[in-house]
Amino acid sequence: MPFPLLATTPISSPLSSKNPLRQPTKSANTRPSPTSLRLPNSTTISCEQKQVDNNNGSHGIDRRNVLLGLGGLYGATSTMAGKVANAVDGGPVQPPDLSMCILATDSQADDEPVNCCPPYSTSNIVDFVLPPDAPLRHRKPAHKLSPKEIERFKVAIAKMKQLDPKDPWNFMQQATIHCTFCNGAFFQVNYPDKLLQVHATWLFAPWHRYYLYFWERILGKLIDDPTFAIPYWNWDVPDGMFIPSFYLDNSSPLYNDKRNHDHYKALMDFDYKNEPTPTPNPTPDQYKDVINKNLQKVENLFNKDNLNKPDLFMGAPVSAGEFVEVRGALEELHNLAHEWVGPVAKPNHDMGNFYTAARDTLFWAHHGNVDRLWDFYQKKRMYKPESNLADYLEASFIFYDENRQVVKVKVSDCLRAEDLGYTYAPEEFPWQGIRRRNRKEAAEKKKPFKKQLQLVPVSEFGNQPRPLDDVIRVLVPRPKISRSKQEKEDDVEVLVVDNIQLDPSSYTKFDVYISKPIAEGLAAPDYGEFAGRYSRIPHIHNKKFPHAGKAKLQIGITELLEDINAESAESLVVTLVPKMGYPSIGRVFIELQEADY
Ligand code: C2O
Repeated sequence: MPFPLLATTPISSPLSSKNPLRQPTKSANTRPSPTSLRLPNSTTISCEQKQVDNNNGSHGIDRRNVLLGLGGLYGATSTMAGKVANAVDGGPVQPPDLSMCILATDSQADDEPVNCCPPYSTSNIVDFVLPPDAPLRHRKPAHKLSPKEIERFKVAIAKMKQLDPKDPWNFMQQATIHCTFCNGAFFQVNYPDKLLQVHATWLFAPWHRYYLYFWERILGKLIDDPTFAIPYWNWDVPDGMFIPSFYLDNSSPLYNDKRNHDHYKALMDFDYKNEPTPTPNPTPDQYKDVINKNLQKVENLFNKDNLNKPDLFMGAPVSAGEFVEVRGALEELHNLAHEWVGPVAKPNHDMGNFYTAARDTLFWAHHGNVDRLWDFYQKKRMYKPESNLADYLEASFIFYDENRQVVKVKVSDCLRAEDLGYTYAPEEFPWQGIRRRNRKEAAEKKKPFKKQLQLVPVSEFGNQPRPLDDVIRVLVPRPKISRSKQEKEDDVEVLVVDNIQLDPSSYTKFDVYISKPIAEGLAAPDYGEFAGRYSRIPHIHNKKFPHAGKAKLQIGITELLEDINAESAESLVVTLVPKMGYPSIGRVFIELQEADY
């Protein structure tokens, strides 16, 4: 096999010099920031404050204020993406030093060490270039693939599985990359105490986009078909809310037995909580309610808040030297398919555990849909980058490409699917407008308010952490009421559930509902409107890297408050409904966060 094995020179050169987004020399290196201090020679003085400050917005410091304070630096470089602001911390996250791979950790109770190191390490890392113009690859919904297309896909996967086990193109090698970037196989270059992690940050969507991109092109190479496109699991339409049938044929190379067999023919329930599917053979009518709720959850991804403040959708900003665990709404929802496909019992291999998730062919179909929803989001925002910060645009990773070359990719090159040579076959989005349609329907049916309605007393959360072993209903004051249209455009109203402590080796999931108090200190018995979800797939980080298993959830509620007519409410009733695991909650509050960067 002509792949370079185990050369040992580490990767160098953090920024490409021909890069149009390259920063002026006065960069983060020369400026102490409130969260980390990095010396010009790249040694690091680390301090605990480097962690995300959980009490202050999504990032501990207000980036916009920092940028404005820099005067001339902001906007010093202009690019196709508009203005590029400078990094405020350690700069953009960099690819790992391949020679420094260590054992990663699986989520067994005994923190079993696992080897996820790539079979290559090379000095010959080249910068990624966009593929040459060619007919676009059309990714199609798996449940609509023709028999011929299914066959072609099966042949490609079979070939990938037959490759030498050490070949970076080999199916298991490709799967292992997921462990590498999640379970602690690398620390960040220059930050030996900080894990390299792509999940639960704004790198989630870009990293997985590249991951699929190379996988698709390698498969295309293996069957000598430059138009080959991977199928996606179209779980946001009713017909797609089942595991696509050809993944269930146990004689196929697409088959994986390490799944929850109860779900082989079952309608996906986005409210699933590790319990048996209630009705074994439900009629289409019984499906309706589940489908409806599923669709609402997809639509909720694209609410005004998530569109105005991309980290609510994408995940929290992260710079080199930081460890962040704040998922965006896209990743929170995406966790469902991992839970749904993965077995209930620990260690939940394959799909139910990050260490092994990509060993299941369904992982790739699932992430196809996740990528497609990001593509939808980007189109809705007319391709305005989710952030103009170099920390986002210049963040980079490495992959082994379809030409057997190790390439360094960066976020700014993956912000349009079409530039990467693929597109999603036009499909319908039946969830668009569903919440309003449902609300209207409900309003028409609504019976007059009954006097004997049993109101529930609610009080504020208090200062002590509380176990979420039962429903928690609390009254949460708002920072400002009756905001003007302009104020709402400037600032997004965000509900923060903070300091979540959990068992990282188990599933954790809870839902958040919001309603208006009926009278002072009194709530209606029903929880109100679904606002968002916290969900975490089991994964443990190498013990060397502290702060795993403590996190927060942020949900934009500006649009929701308009919908439920709660603009003038001074406080809201927030209901936390546990679904899986027994986390404890440190704090619940509402704050205003600046929209967009
Ligand atoms: Cu890298 Cu679906 O997770």
